[in-house]
Amino acid sequence: STTKETVFQITPKTDAVSPAERAALLANPGFGRVFSDHMAVVTYTQGKGWHTPQVLPRQPLLLDPAASVLHYAQEIFEGMKAYRTPEGEAQLFRPDANARRFRKSAERMAMADLPEDLFLDAVNQLVKIDAGWIPDPEVGTLYLRPFMIATETALGVKPSSEYKFIVIACAAGEYFSKDAGPVSVWVEERTVRASRGGTGAAKCGGNYAASLTAQQEAKEHGCHQVLFLDAVERKWIEEMGGMNIVMVFNDGSIQTPPLEGTILPGITRDSLLTLARDKGLTVREEPYAIDQLYADAKSGRLREVFACGTAAVVTPIGTLKSAEGDCVINNGQTGELTAALRKTLCDIQFGRTADTHGWVHKV
Ligand code: PLP
Ligand code: COI
Repeated sequence: STTKETVFQITPKTDAVSPAERAALLANPGFGRVFSDHMAVVTYTQGKGWHTPQVLPRQPLLLDPAASVLHYAQEIFEGMKAYRTPEGEAQLFRPDANARRFRKSAERMAMADLPEDLFLDAVNQLVKIDAGWIPDPEVGTLYLRPFMIATETALGVKPSSEYKFIVIACAAGEYFSKDAGPVSVWVEERTVRASRGGTGAAKCGGNYAASLTAQQEAKEHGCHQVLFLDAVERKWIEEMGGMNIVMVFNDGSIQTPPLEGTILPGITRDSLLTLARDKGLTVREEPYAIDQLYADAKSGRLREVFACGTAAVVTPIGTLKSAEGDCVINNGQTGELTAALRKTLCDIQFGRTADTHGWVHKV
């Protein structure tokens, strides 16, 4: 990069937990509960731009109760991971893609534009200072959560003139519990996640708030996740609450819904499509109807279905449940291609195999 690196003012935490306590926490972190010691914070003020880059001990935020994020949900986030390589180094997977998507999300939500280099510098700074919080590869990764909030004290409905960009991190094991095997998914027919022209392609908090009733319903039906259908015809498969979906057919081809503004353009999705093409597979980014899925599962044409995303990595789907009943995929077993793609991706992410795509970045 030719641009100069932003200098962060660093205030290290002085009362961090002991190495023994940390090791105990890192042995079985679950997801989203075991946080690292620090946070990176950069402030935006209209007229002044981005300023005051800091790394601070992780701490509560001081917000005015009229801060616009609390009322009109001007908020966006990213999800990415730091991986520990066999050599003990820390590396990121396609962080530039997260930085780019973050800018797109900001644009959709009328928020301040954050230069990609500043995004990457903040993430790198946090991973550097909290590298001790990256679990062993057998356990998991350090999940990074960059996000931006609107902080102007104002109840008028308008884009905020002040923002904070913050990066926090948590140790992460499996998103779905490890021994569960393939997950079950609730096909949501009551509510929709996004419509054309809406915010479906942006990673904004509001999308997730709106998905929670469906997620609740999924849980009531004993499912781990929810699958959303399109808003117009309630027919076409879109994506899940927090991951994209991919179908594998008995001719070896794979298919996933196209990016038409209503689903999140997943970086895992994009990477897996590339890896599948590398393997010589036919890849289709085309609409797929839920009734077609049921028919193809019955006839045996549909062989495997999996979910993919940063948190979920590649997770096999064993059953799709709906008001009409259960549709079992691949006898509820993990599919061969699902397992192979997961291994190929993870080997690159964890630095166990050569990265021929320029995807990994050492911290
Ligand atoms: N779809 C949704 C709604 C998500 O929240 C995520 C997770 O970030 C994804 C898809 C997968 O995106 P990625 O692979 O970039 O993590
Ligand atoms: C991610 O995979 O990073 C997400 O944001 C999904 C969320 C369900 C944790």
